Amino acid sequence: MPSVFIKTFGCQANKSDSERILGDYSSRGYQETLEWKEADEIVLNTCSVRQSAEDRVRGFLLNLTKYINETGKPKPKVILTGCMLHFNEKEIRDLLPEVDEILPIAEVGFNQKAIRKDKDNAWVPISTGCNSFCTYCIVPFSRGRERSRSMDDILKEVESLAKEGYKTINLLGQNVNSYGLEKSGINLRKLYMDKENFSASSIPSNESQYQKPTTTPPFVLLLQKISQISGVEKITFFTSNPWDFWDELIEEIAANPKIDRFIHLPVQSGSNRVLKLMNRGYTRESYLSLVERIRAKVPEAVFGTDIIVGFPGETDADFQDTLDLVRKVGFKVAFVARYSPRPGTASFKLYPDDVPAKVKKERWEILDQIANKDNLANRPLIP
Ligand code: SAH
Ligand code: SF4
Ligand code: F3S
Repeated sequence: MPSVFIKTFGCQANKSDSERILGDYSSRGYQETLEWKEADEIVLNTCSVRQSAEDRVRGFLLNLTKYINETGKPKPKVILTGCMLHFNEKEIRDLLPEVDEILPIAEVGFNQKAIRKDKDNAWVPISTGCNSFCTYCIVPFSRGRERSRSMDDILKEVESLAKEGYKTINLLGQNVNSYGLEKSGINLRKLYMDKENFSASSIPSNESQYQKPTTTPPFVLLLQKISQISGVEKITFFTSNPWDFWDELIEEIAANPKIDRFIHLPVQSGSNRVLKLMNRGYTRESYLSLVERIRAKVPEAVFGTDIIVGFPGETDADFQDTLDLVRKVGFKVAFVARYSPRPGTASFKLYPDDVPAKVKKERWEILDQIANKDNLANRPLIP
C-alpha cells in the first residue's frame, strides 16, 4: 500500500481541507503515515497569511532535500496545495523546486468524504474564499472568490456526522455571516480591489459589503436547521465579521441554546484611521455597539478576536486606541499578529511597511499581556 504524509499549515480551513484530502487518498488505496521520512507522497497544505507561514514551507522542503541527499533515498512525490497557490505555477517552481505537482484548492471539493481525527468535534465547511479584500490580506487571492456550499449538502453531512456520534459541529468559512449571499451581495470592495491600478482614494470605507437581506439571512436558517438535527448538541462558527453580524443572528443565538456562547469577532484594530486603511467596513464605535447589542441579548457571550499590530503608519495613538478597545470589550482570547506585507495585496502596493520590527514586537507584547494574560474577561466590564 502506498503511503501519504499530509503536512498542514495555517488555519482551521486548511485542517478541514486536509481531512478531505486524506479521504481522497484513502479512497485511492493510500495509507496515511505520520512520519514524512517514510512517505511515498507528501502533501503540503500551505498557508500564506504571513511571510513566516510561507517560510515554514520552504524550511520543510530544505529539510527534506537534506535528508534525501544524506541518505540517498528516493525522493517522495511532493504535492503543493493550499494558500500558497496565490503564486502562479512558474513562481512556485522557482521558489520551491522540490514541488512535483500542484493541487488547486477548488479541486479538494466540499463533498469529498473527510477522514476526521477528532472524534467529538466535526469541522464542516460552509463556504470558501473571500470577497472582502481587507487591504492587508492574501486570502481573497489565495482562496479566490467567496463560494457557498449548498444547504442540502451541508445538512446531509451534518446528519451523517450526528449519526456517527459527533456532538459538536463547527461551521467554517472566512465570513460565515454572508453564507449564501455572495450572488445577491453588493460587493463594492471587489469592484475597487480588482482594478489593476487602484489608489488609496479608491478604497471605500465603512460601507457594508453586503446588503442586509429582507428575509431571514441564509446563515441563520442554516443554524436553525442544523440545531434541529437529532444528536447535535453544540454548534460553533468561525469566522464572523463585524459588518454583517445582523440582529437576526443575535436573536438566533439568544433563542438557540445549542449555539456556542463563545463568539470570535475579529476587530483587527481599535483605531478608526487604521480600520479605514484596512478597508474593514466598520468603526470602533460600531464594533463596540455590536458587542453591546450582543451582550444585551446574550449576557453569557464571551468574545475572541484577531488583532494586527504595526499596520503601515500605525502611530502610538492608534495603538492606544486598540488597547482602549481591548480593555473595554474584555476579550477571552486575542490572536495578535504583527503586520506582514503580502505581495499582491492593496496595502503592500499602497503603503510602506514603516513600523520598525522592534516597535511591532513591543506592541505585540503589550497587547498580548493585556488581552490574554490580564484576564480581562473575568472582570466587570468597562462601559
Ligand atoms: N476571515 C478571517 C480571518 C482570516 S486570516 C477574518 O476576516 O477574520 C486570520 C488572521 O490573520 C486575520 O484575522 C488577521 O488578524 C491575520 N492576518 C491576515 N493578514 C495578515 C497580514 N498581512 N499580516 C499580519 N496578520 C495578518
Ligand atoms: Fe482576509 Fe478580510 Fe477576508 Fe478575513 S474578511 S479572509 S481578513 S480579506
Ligand atoms: Fe487559512 Fe492561512 Fe489560507 S490562515 S485561509 S491557510 S492563508
